[in-house]
Amino acid sequence: MKRLVLLLAAVTLIGMAAAARGLVVYYSFTGSCRAIAQSLADQVTVDMVEVQPADENVDYAANGYAIGDALIDRINNNPNSADSYPAVKPVSVDWSHYDTVVIIAPLWWSHMAAPMQSFLFANGSALAGKNIGLIVSSHSSGIAIVSSDARRLVPDGDFFSRDLWINRASHANRGTLISDWLDEVGYRTVTAVTDVHIDAPGVEPLYDLNGRYVGTTGDNVPRGVYVTASGRKTARL
Ligand SMILES: Cc1cc2nc3c(=O)[nH]c(=O)nc-3n(C[C@H](O)[C@H](O)[C@H](O)COP(=O)(O)O)c2cc1C
Repeated sequence: MKRLVLLLAAVTLIGMAAAARGLVVYYSFTGSCRAIAQSLADQVTVDMVEVQPADENVDYAANGYAIGDALIDRINNNPNSADSYPAVKPVSVDWSHYDTVVIIAPLWWSHMAAPMQSFLFANGSALAGKNIGLIVSSHSSGIAIVSSDARRLVPDGDFFSRDLWINRASHANRGTLISDWLDEVGYRTVTAVTDVHIDAPGVEPLYDLNGRYVGTTGDNVPRGVYVTASGRKTARL
């Protein structure tokens, strides 16, 4: 009887987890952030949105990155005016589908790349109360100012405990960096179940909802919903 109750409870929780889906929003000029977004999507089930400038033919890197520099200056001079932000293509997102949003953006002149700033300026209020992850790609510059930009543009977001910096030297290792970061910030927990307390009986191999082996019922795995080798769903304290 106890097993039946556990199973029914777990099946209900699986339904809850499916409703709470993650969204990745990325912008990429030269492809690094696109590759990072793909690495993330290879590891967890997410929907993806690409932010694209309205004018696709601008070379932000020309003349020593002069155009990108001018766009950032324009935002910095008047960050509260919509006129300061370059136009991006319209994107339609039903924000009610997502409890977690991961923003992936390049660093330009120490700031968040202008097109992603445009997107967040227009949509920041829709992200209020959601779990927000930030991944920044740069050649070598540190990301502290990009982190500040994100919090200015999404003032009521519930940001993960750490933003993730991937630079030119670590780009090839992005899969591992992302996996470690997801574990550290509890991503797999916040997109699943956070408030249930069910003991998993016995000691069996456990797999997360992406099919990844995470340990056994006897191990100290993070809280969440898992599938055992026998196919039984279970929730871990
Ligand atoms: C306009 C512009 C300004 C940039 N400024 C910096 C910078 O100040 N420091 C840095 O380390 N990288 C800088 N970069 C490099 C990008 O941050 C880096 O190449 C990043 O990985 C690009 O991501 P993407 O390929 O997704 O566009 C700049 C790139 C551009 C286009």
